Amino acid sequence: MSQVARVYPGEKDQPKKLVYVWQRPVRLFHWATAICISVLFLTGLYIAFPVLTTPGEAWNQFLMARVRQIHFFAAYLWLVAYLLRCVWFFLGNKYARSGMPRPWSSAWWREFFVELFSYAFVRRERSTRLGHNALAGVAYTIFPIGLGLAQILTGFALYSETDPSGLAGRLTGWMIPLLGGSFRAHMWHHLFAWGFLWFVIVHVYIVVFDSIRDRNSLVESMITGYKSLEVDATAVGKRDQEGEH
Ligand code: HEM
Ligand code: HEM
Repeated sequence: MSQVARVYPGEKDQPKKLVYVWQRPVRLFHWATAICISVLFLTGLYIAFPVLTTPGEAWNQFLMARVRQIHFFAAYLWLVAYLLRCVWFFLGNKYARSGMPRPWSSAWWREFFVELFSYAFVRRERSTRLGHNALAGVAYTIFPIGLGLAQILTGFALYSETDPSGLAGRLTGWMIPLLGGSFRAHMWHHLFAWGFLWFVIVHVYIVVFDSIRDRNSLVESMITGYKSLEVDATAVGKRDQEGEH
C-alpha cells in the first residue's frame, strides 16, 4: 500500500481533521528525553571544560561535584525514559511502532527516498504517514536509539570506574577495555555527545519546517497528541491509519 501522496499537502486551505497519534506516554518520554539530553550535553561540556572558576579552595566549593551529580541524575532519569519508551513500542498504539526501518521492503525504500528528495526540494511528493515516516525512523534509530545506547554504555562504564565491582561495573565495565582504556572511553563519550547536538538542530528544524509547510500541527502534536490532516488527504490518511506499521 502506497504511503506517498501525489498532492503536495498544505497547498490549499482545507478543512482539517484531527487524529490522535502520540499517546501520553510517548509525549512524556519525548519531553523527558529532550530535557535530559539538553542537561546531559551542557553538564557534560562543563565536566570536560570547567569554564567557571570559583574563588577559594576547590573542596570548599563543590561546583564540579554538583555538576557531575546533575549529569548522573539526568543520566538515570534518561535511562528510565529510554527503557520505558522501548517497552511502550510493544504496548502502545500503532504509531508508537511507526518508523521502524524495514530495509527488506521496497515500499519502505520508496518512502525513504520520497522524503529525502522532498527535503532536498527535488520532488514535491510527500509521505502521508501519520506516525514517523521512513526517514524519521532512520534518524531516530541512528541517533536517540543507537547513539543513545552507545552513550548510556560508555557513560555507565565511566561511572563505574569508582566501583568496578558494582552493578554498573558488572553490566558496562567491559566497555573500557573494549574501547582501549579510560581515556579513550572518555573520548568516545565526548565525541558521541556532539552527535546529539547535530540531531537536535536538524530535528527541531525539520519539525518546525514540516509544521509550516504541511500545516499538520506537528509541533503542537508532541504536546496535545493530535496531528491535523487536511480532509482532502483523508482518503490517503485513512488508508495510512489502517496500513501504519
Ligand atoms: C533535545 C531535544 C529533543 C530531542 C532529544 C528529541 C527527540 C525526539 C525523539 C527521540 C523522537 C521520537 C519519539 C518517539 O517515537 O518516542 C522525537 C519525535 C518528535 N519530536 Fe522531538 N526531540 C527534541 C526536541 C523537540 C522539540 C523542541 C520539538 C518541538 C518543536 C519536538 C517535536 C517532535 C515531534 C513533533 C516529533 C514527532 C515527529 C515525527 O513525526 O517524527 N522535539 N523527538
Ligand atoms: C545516559 C547515560 C550517561 C551517563 C551514565 C554518563 C556519565 C558520564 C560520566 C561518568 C562522565 C565522566 C565524568 C568525569 O570524568 O568526572 C561523563 C562525562 C561526559 N558526558 Fe556523560 N553520561 C551519560 C550521558 C551523556 C549524554 C547523553 C551526553 C551528551 C549529550 C553526555 C556528555 C558528556 C560529556 C561531553 C562528558 C565529558 C567527557 C570528557 O571529555 O571527559 N553524557 N558522563
